[in-house]
Amino acid sequence: MKNILVTGGAGFIGSNFVKYMLNIDDNVSIINVDLLTYAGNLQSLAEVAENPRYRFVKGDIRDRELIDNLFYKYHIDTVVNFAAESHVDRSITEPEIFLTTNIIGTQNLLDIAKRHWKVEPDNKYSRDYAAGIKFLQVSTDEVYGALGQTGMFTETTPLAPNSPYSASKAGADMVVRAYNETFGLPVNITRCSNNYGPYQFPEKLIPLMINNCQQGKSLPVYGDGMQIRDWLHVSDHCSAIYRVLEKGQTGEVYNIGGNNEKANIEIVKLIIQAMGKDESLISYVQDRPGHDRRYAIDNAKITSELGWSPSYTFEQGIAETIEWYLKNGQWMEQVTSGSYLEYYDRMYAVRK
Ligand code: NAD
Ligand code: DAU
Repeated sequence: MKNILVTGGAGFIGSNFVKYMLNIDDNVSIINVDLLTYAGNLQSLAEVAENPRYRFVKGDIRDRELIDNLFYKYHIDTVVNFAAESHVDRSITEPEIFLTTNIIGTQNLLDIAKRHWKVEPDNKYSRDYAAGIKFLQVSTDEVYGALGQTGMFTETTPLAPNSPYSASKAGADMVVRAYNETFGLPVNITRCSNNYGPYQFPEKLIPLMINNCQQGKSLPVYGDGMQIRDWLHVSDHCSAIYRVLEKGQTGEVYNIGGNNEKANIEIVKLIIQAMGKDESLISYVQDRPGHDRRYAIDNAKITSELGWSPSYTFEQGIAETIEWYLKNGQWMEQVTSGSYLEYYDRMYAVRK
């Protein structure tokens, strides 16, 4: 049995990953540690709450004692680190929490993993580790910065993050790299493009536009709406992470993309059409400071070396996603009650 510590497993991608893994592999047990910030939601995990191969622990990845105890108690042999502050707009107004959670939190996990997994933990020259262990850092294509009209990010593209969020993720990537280079810790880093699918918090483009459309509220498009993202269905992201856990070469970085470049305005119009609404709902608002113009992932390494490729077309994925949000109104209502409205006013009132 593999004992996987999933961090941030109550968030969007983490909760999808926990369910994906329990479903696809009978030989894994999962300990999900999540601080349950505004972005974490146990309702997203209701269907696995009673699964004997699953445990939830409320806690902070920066809490050394707690993480240490989890390693002891559950004999953790694999870490998949999703826990992070993940929203670019929030990082522009509150950068500090991004640095502490995303960088210091990752370093704390690495340090504890190193001590538990090292065959001789007190020998600083030893690079021997227990068999079958791995630390997988879930990173992002945003660490590469922005592209012009052409080109794609490969794993060797230099890091050039532009927002406090992406700078914190790049910082974490550098620490993960250093633990591999200096201590020989077996790691992988995955860098994926924009995810979409069920259970995404409606601060992000697609669920926000679906929710606003449904409520008949205006649809705030930043700047000219011609920024391009490369959309990846969350279940394709989960299968890619599983593949890297199983087959990824120690120390390697793998880019993960959906081969689905779309301008934001195209997506907004597609959602309007699918939901039978009118384009008069669109409102062009003040742009995000430092807004990256285009992201695009070159998938060649993970495709050719690990045999993974995305299975969703964007047309299929977005149709299923809209349908999911419409059918799961209760989930949306729960996450948009309370502090969400205060967040929305704070973020969007100033953009008009
Ligand atoms: P999310 O914001 O939906 O979820 C983050 C989760 O981390 C939440 O459940 C939150 O409670 C938890 N968390 C935050 N701080 C914590 C702490 N200190 N200790 C423990 N838990 C904490 O994020 P997401 O969209 O699911 O993204 C997951 C990961 O994937 C992040 O590392 C993000 O950088 C990366 N990523 C996301 C995307 C995307 O499109 N969503 C794309 C590329 C990479
Ligand atoms: O590329 C991977 C990244 O994708 C992840 O690392 C981040 O965690 C994730 O949040 C996402 O970042 P983006 O900034 O690309 O995602 P977001 O959904 O915030 O915005 C997508 C695009 O839509 C971006 O160009 C900004 C624009 N946008 C967003 C919102 C919320 C709007 O035009 N209006 C909006 O209201």
